[in-house]
Amino acid sequence: MQGKLTIDPSNQIAKVDDRLYSSLIEHLGRAVYDGLYDPDNAKSDENGFRQDVVKAIKDLNIDLVRYPGGNFVSGFNWEDSIGPKDQRPTRLDLAWRSIETNQFGLHEFMKWTQQTGTRPDMAVNLGSRGIDAARNLIEYCNFPGGTYWSDLRKKNGAEQPFNIKTWCLGNEMDGDWQIGHKTAEEYGRLAHETAKVMRLVDPDIDLVVSGSSTREMATFGSWEETVLDHTYDDVDYLSLHRYYDNEENDLHNFLAKSIDFDEFISGIVAVCDAVKARKHSDKTLNLALDEWNVWYHSHKQDDETAPWQNAPHLLEDHYNFEDALMVGTMLITLLKHSDRVKIACLAQLVNVIAPIMTDDQGIWLQSIFFPFMQVSKYGRGIALQPKQESATYDSKDFKDVPYLDSMAVYNPDTHEVVIFAENKGEEAMDFTTTLTSLTTTDLIEATQFYGYDIKQTNEDQRMQIQPNDHVSLDQGTLTTTLEPLSWNMFRIK
Ligand code: AHR
Repeated sequence: MQGKLTIDPSNQIAKVDDRLYSSLIEHLGRAVYDGLYDPDNAKSDENGFRQDVVKAIKDLNIDLVRYPGGNFVSGFNWEDSIGPKDQRPTRLDLAWRSIETNQFGLHEFMKWTQQTGTRPDMAVNLGSRGIDAARNLIEYCNFPGGTYWSDLRKKNGAEQPFNIKTWCLGNEMDGDWQIGHKTAEEYGRLAHETAKVMRLVDPDIDLVVSGSSTREMATFGSWEETVLDHTYDDVDYLSLHRYYDNEENDLHNFLAKSIDFDEFISGIVAVCDAVKARKHSDKTLNLALDEWNVWYHSHKQDDETAPWQNAPHLLEDHYNFEDALMVGTMLITLLKHSDRVKIACLAQLVNVIAPIMTDDQGIWLQSIFFPFMQVSKYGRGIALQPKQESATYDSKDFKDVPYLDSMAVYNPDTHEVVIFAENKGEEAMDFTTTLTSLTTTDLIEATQFYGYDIKQTNEDQRMQIQPNDHVSLDQGTLTTTLEPLSWNMFRIK
């Protein structure tokens, strides 16, 4: 089988936004408690922050961390999570039917972002609450001082404002599972009024309005149109969420779902631009794909988990090798849409549908950690328009699926061109990349991730990225073999 990628450095998609490599920490299961915060664990520092988790997050080069949810935020009283820990109330978390002790809250999160080198992406509760709670929260976080809420922040130990830049106006408000679910009309009005008030407190914030929870929602498309009718001028990003599964155990159909991902993003871009045209607006609205991943392995176990526990084992998918290939092809799709997708949050980060898992002894890295780490580290710079030739296959739901999925990014700081390539086929592929008008001579690194059973998971930590020693580079043409079902990266200069 043959695969060819032609790249012309002058044919550029966009500068890749650093926030394309963001994530989500939700008060859910063992993400916070037993995950990043575990005061009794020997691996934690004096704040209770697990240092092995901090290191792994740094290895992933995560930019924004969306917080505190997810569905959780729609029933959350942010005031419960500040002040002396022994005075914070224990509450029922109705979203996940768990117990929330509030021992990790706003100040702890802000301190943790500093330690991890990440930045906050704060969600406000537009489910059970609304404008008033949102304006108080932003006053608490971003106002310098001299008012009730900003002085309370100082009293609680933060003299300087947190200056949180990015704010989400609620979460998945289109879903009837959401606490305080609303119609598009109701949510659009509320989001508009909340945005107005939040900007009165701090005009410099970026706001993300909630789009569709999945492409399958009956309101998909019309939700965005109505919500943007109310909020187009108020917000900076429209959010969208997408999770994939392989419930039907059909590898080729599973990996072909990157086509659905691509169409999903293009469809939402089209809706944004239609609203723009209708409003005669000069502003182009970008997207925040603020939840994306594979999610399904834990569904059955979660259905059987007893409610009202502290830090229950929820959404603990153990990812296998085919999931890593799926995450790889989704990352390539995100890069292809980097002209409009400016924020993307791998959901989530620790223990809950996560690349990083903890137990009392330490951490283990899931299969999906590896492609994410590589793209997050090296997929920085300018995304180049890929021109690709590949044999195709038909699967249950998709036609003409290329076996090859590939993409290149040029980094002007390092002068490197980095190529990501996935072979979705079960045969080896002769792969050629030609870089027109660029005389690259040096191969900096060539790696491959392959050879595992597609159902193999990584609790034993045997998975690793391996070098590819069979690459030739001659006058701008790279030639190699992509192993069957493999994820590959090439760095050339
Ligand atoms: O990430 C898990 C959940 O998925 C989030 O809480 C919710 O926003 C989405 O449905």
